[in-house]
Amino acid sequence: MTVVESTGLELDDIQIGALHERPSPYVGTYLLLRIDDRAAGRALVRRLLPLVDSGRPSAEPEHGAWITVAFTYAGLAALGVPQESLDSFAPEFRQGMAARAAELGDVGESAPDHWEQPLGTGDVHVAIAVLSPDAARLEAVAEKARRAHQELAGIELVWRQDCYQLPTGRTSFGFKDGIGQPAVEGSGRLPTDPGEAPLKAGEIVLGYPDETGELPPMPTPEVLGRNGTYVVFRKLHTRVAAYRQYLRAKAAGREEEALLGAKMVGRWQSGAPLAVSPDRDAPELGADPARNNDFRYADDPRGFKCPAGAHARRANPRDALDHEGSVDVRLHRMIRRGTSYGPMLPDGVLEDDGADRGIIFVFAGAHLHRQFEFVKTQWLNDGIFIGAPAEKDPLVGQGDGAGSFTIPRTPIRRRLTELPPFVVTRGGEYCFAPGLRALRWLAELDT
Ligand code: HEM
Repeated sequence: MTVVESTGLELDDIQIGALHERPSPYVGTYLLLRIDDRAAGRALVRRLLPLVDSGRPSAEPEHGAWITVAFTYAGLAALGVPQESLDSFAPEFRQGMAARAAELGDVGESAPDHWEQPLGTGDVHVAIAVLSPDAARLEAVAEKARRAHQELAGIELVWRQDCYQLPTGRTSFGFKDGIGQPAVEGSGRLPTDPGEAPLKAGEIVLGYPDETGELPPMPTPEVLGRNGTYVVFRKLHTRVAAYRQYLRAKAAGREEEALLGAKMVGRWQSGAPLAVSPDRDAPELGADPARNNDFRYADDPRGFKCPAGAHARRANPRDALDHEGSVDVRLHRMIRRGTSYGPMLPDGVLEDDGADRGIIFVFAGAHLHRQFEFVKTQWLNDGIFIGAPAEKDPLVGQGDGAGSFTIPRTPIRRRLTELPPFVVTRGGEYCFAPGLRALRWLAELDT
């Protein structure tokens, strides 16, 4: 029986990853596959189908792990999806992330030429994310996913990345992440920001009206597009030692280091928002889901509490842009499902140990361009909207060493200069995660 919420959201047909928080703590793995043989590709989808949970609210995934299966444009083509249908996907998806590199700011050492192979090459067809609360359950499900492709000649595993929550429960720069998240109408999940009404389902899942009241463009045939969502994944290497050295050089002591770090993010490392606790970290606030996302920016137009250029404020300005009336923040929201990879740089270490560590950034939404690409290009990589055109996001803006970041203060503001790039893109792909019926349709294609 299909579970349909009052909004008509077909939870039973939507892959679990789009609507559900990942477990915490979590361990996981990302597997990228290439389809060399069409029939094997369809057999793979058939085998993966029973492992994929739906978005029906439940405390535990039925199979002990959250599996999300998504395809690149090249992957859908490799499965034999008819050209007419391929042409109906969003133009950015058809081009792929590597082709969008210049727009996205993936230049210099973040350019596709330097990406891990085969990311961005057209050899990535299927992306599988497996996330589980513990290693034993992950292994059991990952083994099934492995068997699903290993036994099939014509399917190659081309890339793999393991991920796990660091012992601190935080990401490599030391910050709690994944707090600011919109709720989706009909998903059964309540908003954590009481000031933000749940988004219309069509902002995240295809086949439903979005915030404009319209049905977003949906790939055809309907059975393929409906209940699908676009997924962006990016491997973002974080230069933790460079970040710590920078703060050490700019601050007079540990307390100021923590303050400057918090100003860059918009939250303290514990997750406590600067908008609520501007002067000192408040770990109990950071840990309290009932309070740690309950804040607005309009009472702080000049950014004395939280700078307008701070990462989280740029990425979700909440009510800060309301007065201009030109930008509707609700049209640029996204579900994030990022995870950490690589070991933690031990506390206090300032030298780079050469380890690869960072974030697998994962976006889910119905609009690649006006959600992910807009936020990345207009809000993170550009400062026009906050009246500081030359200032990119201080943490993730991938600056060139000449960037600056303004911290409003009285009597005079503080300006951090010569910001090095703290984040390097190691590759990524634009994918489409179809609904469960669509997966079945793909498995049964007979062209
Ligand atoms: C290595 C790269 C990144 C790091 C280390 C990072 C870190 C963080 C941290 C610590 C927060 C605050 C915690 C929270 O509210 O969840 C945050 C929030 C957020 N980030 Fe990032 N981030 C990265 C890349 C990105 C990118 C590429 C985007 C979008 C294109 C993005 C979009 C967001 C959004 C939408 C929020 C929530 C803001 C809110 O609702 O208040 N982040 N990020």
